[in-house]
Amino acid sequence: MGRIPEHILNEIQDRCDIVEVISGYIPLRQVGRNFKANCPFHHEKTPSFVVSPDKQIYHCFGCNSGGNVLNFVKEYEKIDFIDAVKLLAEKTGIKLPEYKRENNEGDSIIGSIYAVNDIAADYYVKALEGSGEAMEARRYVEKRGLEKNYLKTFKIGYAPQGWSSLTDYLMKRGVNIEVAIKAGLVQKGKNNSFYDLFRKRLTFPIFDVRGRVLGFGARVMDDSSPKYINSPETIVYKKSQNLYGLNFAKPSIREKGFAVITEGYLDVMTSHQYGISNVISSLGTALTMEQIRLLKRYTHNIVMVYDADQAGEMATLRGLDLFLEEGVNVRVATLDSGHDPDSFIRKFGPRGFSERLKRSNSLFTYKLGILNKKFDGRDPETMAEIVKEMLTTISKVRNAVIKAGYIKELSQELSIKEEAIWEELKKTKKIRSFRNAGPDGRVAGKKINISPAEKILVRLMLEDGNVINRVKQDLQPLDFKNPDIKHLVEALFDIGLTSDFIDAGKIINYLEEKVEPYVISFIVNEEMEIKDKDRNISDCIRTIQKERRDERLKDIQNRLVTAQKNGYDDEAKSLLEEFNELIKRRA
Ligand code: UTP
Ligand code: MN
Repeated sequence: MGRIPEHILNEIQDRCDIVEVISGYIPLRQVGRNFKANCPFHHEKTPSFVVSPDKQIYHCFGCNSGGNVLNFVKEYEKIDFIDAVKLLAEKTGIKLPEYKRENNEGDSIIGSIYAVNDIAADYYVKALEGSGEAMEARRYVEKRGLEKNYLKTFKIGYAPQGWSSLTDYLMKRGVNIEVAIKAGLVQKGKNNSFYDLFRKRLTFPIFDVRGRVLGFGARVMDDSSPKYINSPETIVYKKSQNLYGLNFAKPSIREKGFAVITEGYLDVMTSHQYGISNVISSLGTALTMEQIRLLKRYTHNIVMVYDADQAGEMATLRGLDLFLEEGVNVRVATLDSGHDPDSFIRKFGPRGFSERLKRSNSLFTYKLGILNKKFDGRDPETMAEIVKEMLTTISKVRNAVIKAGYIKELSQELSIKEEAIWEELKKTKKIRSFRNAGPDGRVAGKKINISPAEKILVRLMLEDGNVINRVKQDLQPLDFKNPDIKHLVEALFDIGLTSDFIDAGKIINYLEEKVEPYVISFIVNEEMEIKDKDRNISDCIRTIQKERRDERLKDIQNRLVTAQKNGYDDEAKSLLEEFNELIKRRA
């Protein structure tokens, strides 16, 4: 980002001890000089998340997230870097200079996408209110019983039927069409033409927690399909990271102490309209770990209300286990067949709905009910199947007392000895431990590709400025293969410290996000015992030199073959000379 001067970032860091800040979010346990915890960024049972008070850096060796205190707050709160800076600045009473978000490449495109989304949202709202064509849409919202106030709050609009109504409007307003494409609102057609993604549909802006428009859903007004078209994933809209309606529901969730999760846009709107405001929606998809973490900031109590259809019941149930893994209490409310919260509230009123919420079942009871319906036999194989399914859920309950209670209940329910169930539980644990970062993207594991020589050398340079000068004599930044390391070495050479202690946390500020912070925290935080420092340095330098030389040799060889094949004699000759020169030096 670079708009906030480095010295201010450093000052914030000086006043925010990383251990203190992180332990405000997750419990840390001291181990030697460092602190450890279960990583908040991926699912794990044994802590690989390390915080170093000396270096003011954190790093997870499970998923390779890491950085300084500002990076942590950014990642944990899922906010922009600038907002993380603001948050900590506020906490420490440091005044930030005025800055413009637009000055940065990355930030500015994000900012313009939000801006285009806002323009589009307003355009659709006006179209619903004013245009003659929107008559059908106005009739439709009336038929659905959506009140004016709530249409306004939720910014419901109408996308006209023309192929390029929004596109034309945006062009007229001088909006950069590339941005509208990046926002997913406009698509490229043939012959350099552009057309609207949403046409002849009712539009629902999708907000983030702060109320910014990330994208849209758009519904047809008849029975045609697809019923909804939604914005594609964009730089700002990550479907799996957002919960619809959370911006509106936040205060009520805090006040009531629980959140109600539904499936659809209209479930949220209707609930709000009828005074039940702690309702949000996953927009038809299975919940992700990221969404649960987001919600956990507001409450640890959740009631799921699914549409009362059989479709994918088991699949949905598996999704619910995620809550337990995250230590969230989840209950399930059921509605009469054929209803969703929207239609249920309209038929039975908000009190009828609240009643169902109150009568919600624990996940245990709910799941057992479904399993009993599904398998009606009582033969040993069927029982084993039911126990196995139940145990995948029970094994995820964190609280040992609750876990034991469920096992007892299951044993009574199925008339099976408790010991037998405990026995089976042990087995599921073994299987489970193989499952780590799932392919469903629940863990954002990052790969770090650094040769040991580069790693050791950079680590030593970061620990001792004298090493920098030493390395500088023999190597150039370009000799380092990993691109992040290249930048880092460049920076270290620039700073050119003599013997001053280098603060790794501050190097991150200095590099202005040119280098991924987790690369630095990885190098700095890893346990590494280096015995004979001087020899190690020389060895590493030599290894790197040799690696680069070998690469150049290979490159020359390739070019030589091509030159000879094509009869470029002069070039071949000079390549051969270069080759021999290098060989000599390698000896
Ligand atoms: P539903 O089919 O239950 O729709 O899908 P709904 O929200 O209750 O809408 P009405 O009451 O029929 O008008 C639930 C959610 O799944 C997503 C939408 O987010 C929808 O709100 N969905 C559904 C889609 O994204 N695309 C579809 O084609 C259907
Ligand atoms: Mn519905």
